Amino acid sequence: MYKLDGRSALVTGGAVGIGRRIATRLAEEGCDVAVLDLDAAGAQETAHMVEGLGRRAVALGVDVADHDAVQAAVGAARGAFGKVDIAVNNAGITMVGKVVDVDVAAWRRVFAINTDSVFNVSRAVLPEMIERRAGRIVNIASWFGKIGKPSYAPYSASKAAVIAFTQGLAAEVAPLGVTVNAVCPGSIVGTRMREDADRMSREQGLPTAKERESMIPIGRVGVPDDIARVVAFLASDESSYMTGQAINVTGGLWMN
Ligand SMILES: NC(=O)c1ccc[n+]([C@@H]2O[C@H](COP(=O)([O-])OP(=O)(O)OC[C@H]3O[C@@H](n4cnc5c(N)ncnc54)[C@H](O)[C@@H]3O)[C@@H](O)[C@H]2O)c1
Repeated sequence: MYKLDGRSALVTGGAVGIGRRIATRLAEEGCDVAVLDLDAAGAQETAHMVEGLGRRAVALGVDVADHDAVQAAVGAARGAFGKVDIAVNNAGITMVGKVVDVDVAAWRRVFAINTDSVFNVSRAVLPEMIERRAGRIVNIASWFGKIGKPSYAPYSASKAAVIAFTQGLAAEVAPLGVTVNAVCPGSIVGTRMREDADRMSREQGLPTAKERESMIPIGRVGVPDDIARVVAFLASDESSYMTGQAINVTGGLWMN
């Protein structure tokens, strides 16, 4: 549908959940895919799924918070495919807890994985994209990056930073042929993070995704494919006049 034949993509956090569906969706659209994840076995499984769709794949076990390791992994992806046309920064963790209870290590970990990773990957893929005057970066933020919620302040702050980074970088590289956009998912079920967040929310007396369902105008919670379809669009030539956007995919739960 989006004619991505011959393109190569890199997806962080592609071992499970939203990232896995982004990887397979991009493969369905014609991309070869490098799957980067701490969970090397899960990344390998996703890579097999991509190969099952007739595309090339590499699985790379890497901590996206580690700048040098990301440089090496992007080098390996480039070695496998010759170039990286599309980078999807999807890896992330959540954290639920009141600020007075959050320790410094947990705060730094959320920012290292959710925010530093976006800088690390962008820094690694951009020189070659700029040289070719072509490239797509898609960052998975969250609707919580647009509105702070109780017990989610560190997570919200880390995602707000991703949105601001998306805007600044987009303006910087637009004249160089690269677009940078963010997707802000709402409540997406069927992922490891959602199970973790729901368990932590129950412990804190906060609503779970299913309990929030009645507030969603479209009337259902989201699934990974809802996000992957939008990522495929942003990765394609169909979105060539869009950059610096942070697109809500929330079933109407958040509209700003
Ligand atoms: N599920 C939701 O409701 C929801 C809502 C809004 C935003 N998001 C965002 O979508 C993205 C994907 O979330 P998901 O629900 O699929 O989560 P998930 O937990 O199912 O998947 C996250 C993946 O990231 C990987 N990962 C974590 N830390 C890493 C690290 N340091 N280095 C490399 N890989 C690492 C994990 O191993 C996992 O494979 C995240 O950025 C999340 O913040 C999810």
